[in-house]
This record gives sequence, structure tokens and C-alpha cells, in this order.
Amino acid sequence: MTRIGTSDLDIFPLSLGGNVFGWTADRDASFAVLDAFAEGGGDFIDTADAYSAWVPGNSGGESETIIGEWLAARKPEGVVVATKVSQHPDFAGLAAANVRRAAEASLGRLGVDAIDLYYAHFDDESVPLEETVGAFGELVADGLVRHVAVSNYTAERIRGWIGIADRLGVARPVAVQPHYNLVHRNTVEETIIPVAQEFDLGLVPYYSLASGFLTGKYRTTDASGQSSPRAQGAAKYATEQGLRVIDALQEIGDAHGASIAATSLAWLRAQPTVVAPIASARTVEQVPDLLAGARLELTADEVAHLSSISEWTPANA
Ligand SMILES: NC(=O)c1ccc[n+]([C@@H]2O[C@H](COP(=O)([O-])OP(=O)(O)OC[C@H]3O[C@@H](n4cnc5c(N)ncnc54)[C@H](OP(=O)(O)O)[C@@H]3O)[C@@H](O)[C@H]2O)c1
Repeated sequence: MTRIGTSDLDIFPLSLGGNVFGWTADRDASFAVLDAFAEGGGDFIDTADAYSAWVPGNSGGESETIIGEWLAARKPEGVVVATKVSQHPDFAGLAAANVRRAAEASLGRLGVDAIDLYYAHFDDESVPLEETVGAFGELVADGLVRHVAVSNYTAERIRGWIGIADRLGVARPVAVQPHYNLVHRNTVEETIIPVAQEFDLGLVPYYSLASGFLTGKYRTTDASGQSSPRAQGAAKYATEQGLRVIDALQEIGDAHGASIAATSLAWLRAQPTVVAPIASARTVEQVPDLLAGARLELTADEVAHLSSISEWTPANA
């Protein structure tokens, strides 16, 4: 188990991504994925109030509703649910009144008394940061939220948030959720990890599998023959350099009897401040690789080898 930053949240070190629920996984498939994850030891679920508003016919909140129904049906012990505010069509942005109303709506859909981990999904520079920080602080003080977190914020704005929280005497964020994986490293390693180290924030990377590319199933940048709605976003990484990463993952994974996906998740877990990569599964068959990624320990040499052949280039190189 792994503790998220300075919080009291002890979690299995792989978070199940919830943006598939109500999108590429219907209610039954979502229940099956959640069951398989929980049976395999998983207890940390990531969602957002906006999931999956982009699907024709959806209005947002579908993922939270499915997770809430699953929680009510299964009553699992000790499951930690993270959700987010700012992107739901009816609750856009981070003005104080909106944050409160969005949190109440999320609580209703999830059917819980408090949100374990509540993220500001994307920065909203149209609202004074002090107003947003105060709103999150009040949710914690009132018991609607256990811990605060930020996603897609720059290091400078995270520092700003923490400075204001200290000045107001409200809860600091305990976690940060950036886009981070073996083929997307620069900004996170140069700016976000240092701030996470300084303030003891737990890093919870999203797109941990590069939308599926880091499972090894895309070998060409031409996604025209692929049925998955993620194919375009994933196949773009299948360049010569990207495929060298896949080959290295395969070789190292083979030495452990592990898949490419599990090995790529293990590399992420080995990075400073990372507490739990987030990855989603559309089917039950995809879940074991995610669970294995939470348990596989790579050697320091293997981690260094993967780092050296992946796309990251230091800014000063
Ligand atoms: N904070 C943010 O702004 C933000 C943004 C994006 C995502 N997120 C969070 O991060 C989570 C993860 O992101 P993501 O789901 O978009 O991307 P991801 O985890 O990088 O990719 C997951 C996809 O890879 C494929 N896959 C998973 N396991 C597989 C396996 N064993 N074998 C073959 N294919 C496999 C599935 O897609 P197929 O359907 O193609 O099989 C699955 O949906 C989301 O659910 C969400 O909770 C947060």
C-alpha cells in the first residue's frame, strides 16, 4: 500500500481510470471491470464530474453515476474515490459557488458522504486563485471533501495555491495529477516532480498507458484500421523512437514474465513522488495487466535503461 502525500489515504498503487465508464464501457462492462479490479486488490478509482460528457447523448456525470451504483451494490471496504471539478458542462470553471454546487452534485451521483480526493481538474485563470483555494478549503472544513488535489496545473500555480492555502489557514493539496508516461515526460520531470518533492505531494499520472500505445498494440502511426476511439491518440506515438521504447519494454517485461503494459506502469511507479499511475480498462481482460503493473518491481538498471531510450530530452541538453 502507498500513502498519498501527507494524507491519511493508503492506497493500492494503481488507480483505475473512470473515463471509460459510460463511454467505451457500458454499465455492465463497467461493473465487471470494477469487480475485477477490486477482486485483484485495487481500491483507488479516478473519475471526474465531466466524464463522459463528450459522448453523443451523454450530459456528464455518467461515470460517477456508474461508480456510485457499483459502490451501493458491492459496498466494498476502504475504496478511495477521486473526482474532479471544472469541466462538467453545467458546472464549468472554478468560481467558489460553482465548486460547491459541483461537489454537491458529485456527492449525490457517487452516493457518498464525502469525496476522498477532490481535484481542480484544469486551472481556471478567470477566477482569482484565492477564491478557488478558499472554496476547496471550505469543502474540507465542512466535511464534504477529505483531501484537495490539482490536475493540469503548472508548477508556478501549484506553488501559488499552496501559498494561499497557508495564508488562509485551509487544507493544502496532497496530490497532483499531470499527463505523464514513458513517451511524455519533459514538463513533468522538469517542473512538476520538483514541486511535488518540495511539498510532499503524491504524483498520480494520467494517460499512464499513452491511451493504449504503451500496451504494445499499436505498431504503426496509421490508425485508420483501428476501431477504438482512442486509436488516433495512441497510434501517433508509434514512431521509430516510440517503437524502440516498446521493444525495450518487451525485453525487460519478458525477463519478469510481465506484459509491456505492466512494465510501463512499473517504470512510472519507480519515478520520484509517483504514488499510483492511473490507467483505464475497457474490458475485464485488460485488468490483470494493470494489477500486475502495481506489483512489478523493476531493477534500478532496468528503470535507467527505459529512461535512457524513451523520448525525454532534458531542456538544457
Ligand atoms: N486529469 C485529466 O485531465 C485526465 C485526462 C485524461 C485521463 N484522465 C484519467 O486517467 C485515466 C486513464 O487515461 P486513459 O484511460 O484516457 O488512458 P490510458 O490509461 O493511457 O489508456 C487506457 C486504454 O488503454 C487500453 N488498454 C488498457 N489496458 C490494456 C491492455 N491490458 N491491453 C490492451 N489495451 C489496454 C484501453 O483502450 P481500448 O479501448 O483502446 O482498448 C484503455 O481504455 C482516465 O480514465 C481518467 O480517469 C485524467
